[in-house]
Amino acid sequence: MRERRLLTPRQLGKSVAPTTPAGIAAIGRSHGNGNPGYGELVASTWRHANSRIEKGSELLRELVRYATLAASSHNTQPWRFKLEADRITVLPDFSRRCPVVDPDDHHLFTSLGCATENLVLAAEAYGLHANVSLPLQPEKAIQIDLESATPRDSDLFQAIPDRQCTRATYDSKPVPTEQLADLELAAKGEGVSVQLFTDNKQMEDILEYVIAGNSAQMNDDDFVQELKDWIRFNEAALVKHRDGLFSASSGNPTFPNWVANIILKFAFTEDGENDKYRDQIRSSAGIIAFVSERNDKAGWIQVGKCYQRFALQSTAFGLRHSFVNQAVEVPEVRAQFARYLGIGDKRPNLLLRFGFGPLMPRSVRRPIDQVLV
Ligand SMILES: Cc1cc2nc3c(=O)[nH]c(=O)nc-3n(C[C@H](O)[C@H](O)[C@H](O)COP(=O)(O)O)c2cc1C
Repeated sequence: MRERRLLTPRQLGKSVAPTTPAGIAAIGRSHGNGNPGYGELVASTWRHANSRIEKGSELLRELVRYATLAASSHNTQPWRFKLEADRITVLPDFSRRCPVVDPDDHHLFTSLGCATENLVLAAEAYGLHANVSLPLQPEKAIQIDLESATPRDSDLFQAIPDRQCTRATYDSKPVPTEQLADLELAAKGEGVSVQLFTDNKQMEDILEYVIAGNSAQMNDDDFVQELKDWIRFNEAALVKHRDGLFSASSGNPTFPNWVANIILKFAFTEDGENDKYRDQIRSSAGIIAFVSERNDKAGWIQVGKCYQRFALQSTAFGLRHSFVNQAVEVPEVRAQFARYLGIGDKRPNLLLRFGFGPLMPRSVRRPIDQVLV
């Protein structure tokens, strides 16, 4: 990974403007209930630190803020953070489980790994070396011990406020070979390997597994119900919950909650969703599969750390990426896909597409106070 020069207070104070027309239009608008408007929330969420923060609890809170900008399954944000003098402990929040799509908490612990990687990168930028250990017991926690070190800025840290899971059609442009090599390097990690596909024939093969998984999920009422429970159909719902999947982020219109069920019945169909994934994968430059050596919580956390590095490296290159996990979420399809990948009895953990494309309206996060224990 390319190193950058040290951070200046100015760089740390850089703030990122909202990147979407919806975000820009809504700036300063509130919903009249004391909550910020969507645009305000986006602007205050997706930014670097507002000012130079030296040390102490303010710095620890800021590291947690960076951690919460990580990806999480259905944007459940299934994490809690315990702050001590030189230690941050990342804990699972089992009240945010998704038992249908994620019965064994694979995605939940992967999400904790994503948050951990952001925290480590931010700590390094602020002059703190982060030692991560996965004692996991008794609370299934991730312990991050912080030690003074020379500040180390990186492209990955700088990319944290710009990373997005972009559920759009991309523009089919290929990614230069050197960038593919750097992406692979960023994505590989402790006990985690990746397979990268850019060949059209292979991408068509993989699309079939995604379609098979998607069809199974769309025909599973419990899956659809759980997904709906996490969809925020309008800005007011998003601003209220500050979690979940904003419909506009998936390219869908926003509408009042009471019409959601009626509209979904017609607009959210197996064929429609399968066509969308065909377009999305065919317009992508490549696909990446993550596979961990260990099929346990420690292995899943490592996968999350690796995804986060891949996502930040691709963001730093101006690329977009999005999960197409249908092929790894349905057990029967996952077993067939593992055979395709030739990985024996190992589990394919995550599947993503990447390429060049537009940004979509952004996700939001809950306030820091809600994730501290
Ligand atoms: C373990 C894991 C699994 C995910 N699976 C999917 C998926 O199957 N489809 C999808 O569109 N997004 C998936 N996501 C992305 C999340 O929905 C996304 O991170 C969340 O909505 C927040 O959006 P953001 O990453 O753009 O901030 C997944 C994320 C994680 C960490």
